[in-house]
Amino acid sequence: MNKPVVLVAEELSPAGIAVLGADFEVRQTDGADRSQLLPALAEADALIVRSATQVDAEALSHAPRLRVVARAGVGLDNVDVEAATKAGVMVVNAPTSNITSAAEHTVALILASARNVAQGHSALKGGEWKRSKYTGVELDEKVVGILGLGRIGQLVAQRLQPFGVELIAYDPFLQPARAAQIGVRMVSLEELLAESDFITVHLPKSKETVGLIGDRELHAVKPSVRIVNVARGGIVDEAALYAALKEGRVAGAGIDVFAKEPCTDSPLFELDNVVVTPHLGASTHEAQEKAGTQVARSVKLALSGEFVPDA
Ligand code: NAD
Ligand code: MLT
Repeated sequence: MNKPVVLVAEELSPAGIAVLGADFEVRQTDGADRSQLLPALAEADALIVRSATQVDAEALSHAPRLRVVARAGVGLDNVDVEAATKAGVMVVNAPTSNITSAAEHTVALILASARNVAQGHSALKGGEWKRSKYTGVELDEKVVGILGLGRIGQLVAQRLQPFGVELIAYDPFLQPARAAQIGVRMVSLEELLAESDFITVHLPKSKETVGLIGDRELHAVKPSVRIVNVARGGIVDEAALYAALKEGRVAGAGIDVFAKEPCTDSPLFELDNVVVTPHLGASTHEAQEKAGTQVARSVKLALSGEFVPDA
């Protein structure tokens, strides 16, 4: 009898592949390349992706046998969940697998932006000893504004507390009591923009959040503010951010995610007050192992017709 086919469209940890075991035929493809993905979907019973594969209605229409799409990570913005549900395809993710890694990367970018770590590193490797040019700012006694106080936003808050910051957050869906428990004051978006010395974004990408930080909002911030986005590209409008940085209305930015990925060329790369990473928030051995094993377990259960609990 033919084994069910699990199509792995992006890199999955060896531990995840091991969980799938011998009961399935595991096939690999490059999900970012539609000319490979679409034909490969024809025989797939399950599809495992990260963030580079667009699982849209067109992709689903090429997958007549598909029973489950598994996202080895948190954000589901690259999966059309409504179209999948209509097609009778279950969608699962690994919602806690990489939250520690994403929170730690956020702290890294906040500190890198505050202390010009990347700029000083590049200058020195280029033979320049520039101390005063790269004078930074302390976190102590600064206000950090968290946009989206969910799992990652809360971990960021807990990690920043020992730096002596004041924490505020905008998240209309969170119980203020939970925020108070972790020492965060809930504010409106306007208050967050006006008060923050650092703004860190931890929202899902949705119709409501795309462009949430745009030109109007970037005219309402302190000129000393540094903005960090380890959530999704497009939530902070890149053109508006570029203009604000260039005009001195924003002091610095740390950006891990871009509206269009992969992104190897952006006006933001020209600016000395911007530190960038190529969507590395979840790129740790620990997070990838957790994401891989969690989704592999969910795929196994789904293909065996068993109940798939929340990961
Ligand atoms: P979460 O669902 O736990 O938290 C998101 C929070 O945003 C929730 O508290 C929710 O109430 C709030 N929110 C939703 N819509 C909002 C709106 N319009 N205005 C204000 N608040 C709103 O998610 P999480 O685990 O904290 O992850 C957040 C996002 O981070 C993910 O959706 C994913 O896109 C991104 N992420 C990126 C990386 C990376 O590698 N850079 C890694 C993991 C997650
Ligand atoms: C996520 O949403 O989990 C992250 O963006 C990480 C990833 O794509 O691997």
